[in-house]
Amino acid sequence: MFKINTNYQKLPGSYLFSNIAKKVAAFQEANPDKEIIRLGIGDVTQPLTKSVIATLHSAVDEMADGATFRGYAPDLGYDFLRNAICENDYKKRGCDIAADEIFVSDGAKSDSGNIQEIFSVDNKIAVCDPVYPVYVDSNVMGGRCGSYDPSSEKWSDIIYMPTTAENGFVPEFPKETPDIIYLCFPNNPTGTTITKSQLQQWVDYANKNGCVIIYDAAYEAYISEEDVAHSIYECEGARTCAIEIRSFSKNAGFTGVRLGFTVVPKDLKCGDVTLHSMWARRHGTKFNGAPYIIQRAGEAVYSEAGQKEIKELVGYYMNNAKTIRSGLEEAGYEVYGGVNAPYIWLKTPNNMTSWEFFDYLLENANVVGTPGSGFGPSGEHYFRLTAFGTLENSKKALERIKKL
Ligand SMILES: Cc1ncc(COP(=O)(O)O)c(C=O)c1O
Repeated sequence: MFKINTNYQKLPGSYLFSNIAKKVAAFQEANPDKEIIRLGIGDVTQPLTKSVIATLHSAVDEMADGATFRGYAPDLGYDFLRNAICENDYKKRGCDIAADEIFVSDGAKSDSGNIQEIFSVDNKIAVCDPVYPVYVDSNVMGGRCGSYDPSSEKWSDIIYMPTTAENGFVPEFPKETPDIIYLCFPNNPTGTTITKSQLQQWVDYANKNGCVIIYDAAYEAYISEEDVAHSIYECEGARTCAIEIRSFSKNAGFTGVRLGFTVVPKDLKCGDVTLHSMWARRHGTKFNGAPYIIQRAGEAVYSEAGQKEIKELVGYYMNNAKTIRSGLEEAGYEVYGGVNAPYIWLKTPNNMTSWEFFDYLLENANVVGTPGSGFGPSGEHYFRLTAFGTLENSKKALERIKKL
């Protein structure tokens, strides 16, 4: 008789976004005349840019010709893309990263969920609280988190690092030393970030204590302030302690076409074993390469025209962020984020729980956001709105919220 991976049974209840979808569907059914504005899920709304579309078309044409057709892509990514990433995202920022330390993938979700596989089951992980749920859930599946306590909404073997208004959304070094530290800056869900010198302290901490930092920089393109690092490799010593995960989803709108990458420096070692060789082995065995046409589209993002277009795209969403943030401030809300990230994190008024505020906003303004408690216990009494909608809807949503 087969047996299942019982770690999956430990995962609590249904997923945050399916709960939201159910509530919204029920509200719409009961109120068919109401126009609902969705500022909940972090998906983009603007189309792919001109250069990306043109490149996709020409890459598809290459596939129609026997002379230029491509089959399986190299497991770790085509050199043309790895070189473009290396040059633009790392060399230009003064980061010492080589093209063969870049592993192209189908996105940051897969990589941030899969990376735990190369670590021992008895490693202890630390996460910010609130947190992008993939880091926790994938480690639960890998048997690394102990048991779940529904009353505290915490796993017994995870170290939680609260990031709230009280500590300026900067995680503090935990009392107990972790083995693996997940950091995501600019942050989903709080929309806040830390300075380069604060990140340097985490790099120093990790090197001193023999930890690995898994650094999710999916929102790097939204950084607007000078003293914020775009890559953890801008920090001294990061080559010996950090893995960085990136995505084309939020900077270039690839959520539906799928492309991302992970950087594993060859200096990152456990004894004689490099994590680079382990991730190469894992990738080579379980992943057969991101599609050629998508990797060509990714390369186009780094062209001169491509870079100009994505700046405009990011600018569009950040203008929404400004609209939402300033509108909420005018309405008297306590607001965070939205300056280096497309997320606005607000404190719920009158001590409402995150879900109470979700219902209140849905029923009275017909606006959908995401309850902060869905991202971890320290997200309670907070609420996330995203800037990924259209400008028209962002403005309309705020007009409604102001009238409440
Ligand atoms: C922090 C973070 N990492 C990764 C992802 C997923 O990125 P991708 O679309 O590349 O899988 C998201 C998506 O919302 C995210 O918020």
